[in-house]
Amino acid sequence: MNIPVIAIDGPSASGKGTVAQRVAAELGFHFLDSGALYRLTALAALRAGVALDDEMAVAGVAAALPAEFVGERILLSGDEVTAAIRTEDIGVGASKVAALPAVRAALLARQRAYRRLPGLVADGRDMGSVVFPQAAAKVFLTASAEARAERRHKQLIEKGMAANMLPLLQDVVREMRERDARDAARSVAPLKQCADAELVDTTTMGIDEAVAAVMDIVRRRVPRQES
Ligand code: DC
Repeated sequence: MNIPVIAIDGPSASGKGTVAQRVAAELGFHFLDSGALYRLTALAALRAGVALDDEMAVAGVAAALPAEFVGERILLSGDEVTAAIRTEDIGVGASKVAALPAVRAALLARQRAYRRLPGLVADGRDMGSVVFPQAAAKVFLTASAEARAERRHKQLIEKGMAANMLPLLQDVVREMRERDARDAARSVAPLKQCADAELVDTTTMGIDEAVAAVMDIVRRRVPRQES
């Protein structure tokens, strides 16, 4: 059966997660936050005392991940971990386990299982290139490193991070560039725009404008569903 997939890939802090969720809500489609699966794998491995560079052991954790998505809440073995997987440490752990081919392979079937009627919006780094190469619409959503660093910095302030803990904006820009270089250089599923993906650069866009730009692409690429 032809179940439409909208693949939205791009670097962190591009606004991708928020935009993908809003597009899924507008279309009434399912939503896959694939980054959360890498974050859950890192957290579950750390909790089980598995070293994050032990590829086969981490792949075992990923294959048996006891995770549940209940609305906005994320549970691991029944424990709420919605906030715990969003910490900087788990982000770093997620990027380590995401570089291991056996871990990516272990999460593949789980990600593909999200493709259910009436359709799926999938958010990640390799949705259009590896997980859903036949996606009806592929979007590469990005913004300049400076714009993404400013957004990340603002988020930290909004989350109430104490002034003496707050990193300097210039350090956030540098880290953003370093992470981009690492993600683009890794040998498995590197972050890059697929030839058949359309670029949405949100450097000077607000969220509403970015959602509208993606919805335009969807309208052009995805045949309307008969109801
Ligand atoms: O989008 P995020 O920050 O939650 O992703 C967490 C980490 O997982 C990030 O380092 C990139 C990696 N990731 C990936 O390699 N492939 C995906 N499809 C999604 C995320």
